[in-house]
Formats: sequence, structure tokens, C-alpha cells
Amino acid sequence: MKLKKDGLAIYTKGEKKNQAIVFVHGFPFDHTMWDFQVNHLKEEFYCVSYDIRGFGKSKVGDGQFTMEMFANDLINIVEELNLENPILCGLSMGGYISLRAIELVPARFGGLILLDTKAQSDDDFNKIRRSNIINFIDQNGHKPFIKDFISTLFCKQTILEKPKMVDDFIDKYLKNDKKGVKGGQLAMISRTDTTEFLSDIELPVLVLCGEEDHMTTPEMMREMSDKIIHSNFVVVPESGHLSAIENAEFVTNEIRKYLYSIKSDETIPEKKEKKKDKKSKKK
Ligand code: MLT
Repeated sequence: MKLKKDGLAIYTKGEKKNQAIVFVHGFPFDHTMWDFQVNHLKEEFYCVSYDIRGFGKSKVGDGQFTMEMFANDLINIVEELNLENPILCGLSMGGYISLRAIELVPARFGGLILLDTKAQSDDDFNKIRRSNIINFIDQNGHKPFIKDFISTLFCKQTILEKPKMVDDFIDKYLKNDKKGVKGGQLAMISRTDTTEFLSDIELPVLVLCGEEDHMTTPEMMREMSDKIIHSNFVVVPESGHLSAIENAEFVTNEIRKYLYSIKSDETIPEKKEKKKDKKSKKK
């Protein structure tokens, strides 16, 4: 089912009585990044995905986005759909959004899955890099940008052996409005640092990282996971930064195991086929 709320395209699959999981995609894609996971989990879980503002079928508006807007959009979706203790599952930019949403309203969520992401905000080098990306897109359009960016997202093996997967993602990306793509960069520049918050997280957390993710490396993500009290860190084989796509089956199995591990009353069935916001307080 597709809903449009406050300009956001929201998609739900499965039965509302089941545990909800909200999937938050990475830059510069849309909710279809999670198609494999949603299709394999929808019988057992209530799967919610959405297009982040400026991407996919969500409204672009003036493209002046901040991470606070993105995090509040996510919280509003959880409220609008009246989800009870949903699990958040965010990849990369989706992880930044999920971490900030949980920092804002920790009691509202039941768990967290972080893929290929980090808690640190941008240092000066990365702020300037993103500013250059915005200028580049202004001058050349957003098509040439993805050509360079693709080698940072997918691992070599995926690029060589699964060209269709890569091409499909480029095609989807090109459907985005360039204002939204630039807005995504602006929002990431504006994000706060959630590193200190990691040790306050009391939720069960699953941390997944592609073995060849050079953007948020396994070393960085293991360190992040070590700062979280109840966290399990898993390396995803044959994958770069887009683990949910590059090794969708492995990632889905890990997510499913995690979801059953926090449902204390149920054991995992055989698969048929195979605290308060410290930042606002500081002001
Ligand atoms: C993403 O994969 O969501 C972004 O590339 C992350 C980033 O640019 O920091």
C-alpha cells in the first residue's frame, strides 16, 4: 500500500498486527533499495519503507533539507502509522537519520539495525567535499556525478559480476530531481554527531557492514558497535557500501535472526524456501 503524507511517499507491506520494521534508505536512492528485504520479511513482519524527502516519489519542494527535517519526517511517519515499538533499519544516510530519530525520542522505538553507516558528523574535509558535489551537480547535472560515485558505493566484484544490478540503481537514481540530490548533501552536512549518544542506547542493536565498504569500513563500524551496550556486529561478505543490495540474502537472514532474537516469546521458524535529547537540552 502506498500512502502520501506531508509530501512523503510511504509504502507498507504485511499485517499491522505484526512487529513493525521501518526501512530508511541511503543516498541517493529510494525505498526500492529494500525490496528484497521487504519481500522476504513481509509475511512475518509489518514492513514500512518510504522515500526520504527529495528522493523517489516524495516531494522535493525547494530542496533545502536538514538532517533534523529528515529525522522528524521519520518520527512523524511512526506517529502517523501509529507503530508500536518499531525497529528502525537504516543504511548509510538512512543510518544517520535513524540514529538521530532514536536520540530525539528513544522511548518510541523497539530496536535498531545500522548498515554501512557512522555516528560521526562531517569533518571539514567532508563538508568541502559535499560542497564541491553540489557545485559539480549545478554545473554538470546529476548524471555525471553518479558515474564517479558508483565505485565508492559498490565493491569491485559487484561492478564486474552484477552490471545489471548497478545499472538498475543508476536508472533509479537518475529519476531523482537534482534539487533533491543536492538537498541530501545539504542535510548530511547539517547532521549532528551522535557518537556520544551511542553509549546511551539501551535498545538491542544489529550492526552490519560490507567487507569491502571503503566509506564506512568494517573497522569503523566495529568500533561504533563496541560503544553500544547491546550490540552485535556482523561483516557482510561480497559487499561494498550497499550491503542490503549487494548481498541482499545474507543481510535479510541476519535481519530476520535479529528480529526473532528480540521477540522473546518466539523461536525463529524454518524459512519455507530456503533518553532524552541531550543536544536540544544543551542550548
Ligand atoms: C549514503 O550512502 O547514504 C551516503 O553516501 C553517505 C554519505 O555520503 O555520507
